[in-house]
Amino acid sequence: MNTALDERVRNSFARSQDSYHDNAREQARIVQLLVDRMVSLGAPKTFGTVFEFGCGSGHLSQALVDQFGIASLFLNDLAYSTRLPALPVKASFRLGDVRKIDWPDSPSLIASASTIQWLADPQCLLQRAADALAPGGWLVVSGYGHSQFIELAQLGSTARAPGLCGSKDLARFLRTGFDNELEILEAREEINPVWFDTPLDVLRHLRRTGVNAPRSQVWTRAKLMRFCSDYIDRFSSNALVPLTYHPVWIIARKHC
Ligand SMILES: C[S@@+](CC[C@H](N)C(=O)[O-])C[C@H]1O[C@@H](n2cnc3c(N)ncnc32)[C@H](O)[C@@H]1O
Repeated sequence: MNTALDERVRNSFARSQDSYHDNAREQARIVQLLVDRMVSLGAPKTFGTVFEFGCGSGHLSQALVDQFGIASLFLNDLAYSTRLPALPVKASFRLGDVRKIDWPDSPSLIASASTIQWLADPQCLLQRAADALAPGGWLVVSGYGHSQFIELAQLGSTARAPGLCGSKDLARFLRTGFDNELEILEAREEINPVWFDTPLDVLRHLRRTGVNAPRSQVWTRAKLMRFCSDYIDRFSSNALVPLTYHPVWIIARKHC
């Protein structure tokens, strides 16, 4: 476990907690996509105990509560967000690293959006989740693939989340050791470039959403100008610049 990185991730999201919720439009879109896919795949209308890790400011928590009946909701994050909504269900919050905290017993849904990429060993967590689920329980998890913020990597940034993986990897993680226990209903991914007016707007977006935590870059004026001109030279199209999001997700059900 890389504690220095974990500390940077915690600080980065804690710093951006006021701006995250309104600026994380792509994360909000992914949350809605996850809930819509659950409904299309025949998720039950109600769940007993639900465990959500990496809840952030509550995009997924709110969407789950809006869509499903939930008896008891356990939320977790490394940092507490003051933007977490008041939810009309019995809810509790467990602060800390999802790998270290106690989980509720036998959840009928374990859900998480845009978080497992921050774990160096996402397989380990997914296997724990598969194990912890109640019989018939659902597992709904999204992260990001190797093309996430590919523009930054191509300009030499080493600020990559440690647990980027493809949807096939997610499926493989769950098949290893759980062949007879889990039915994988869907494992998919998308490449979705988000367009900005300028490279500075890209940097602002990264800062406001806290999503570039492993950054060790010290920006001088010269470096910043070089970054902007390289970004435009390499990637601009129709006077806009892209930042690629590469969401990946898996939805699985444990056999009864
Ligand atoms: C990109 S935000 C996603 C928040 C929310 N799920 C959403 O979709 O808007 C990632 C969240 O994961 C949390 N996180 C990262 N590593 C974590 C860990 N090891 N344990 C618990 N939470 C973690 C961060 O603090 C942050 O709130």
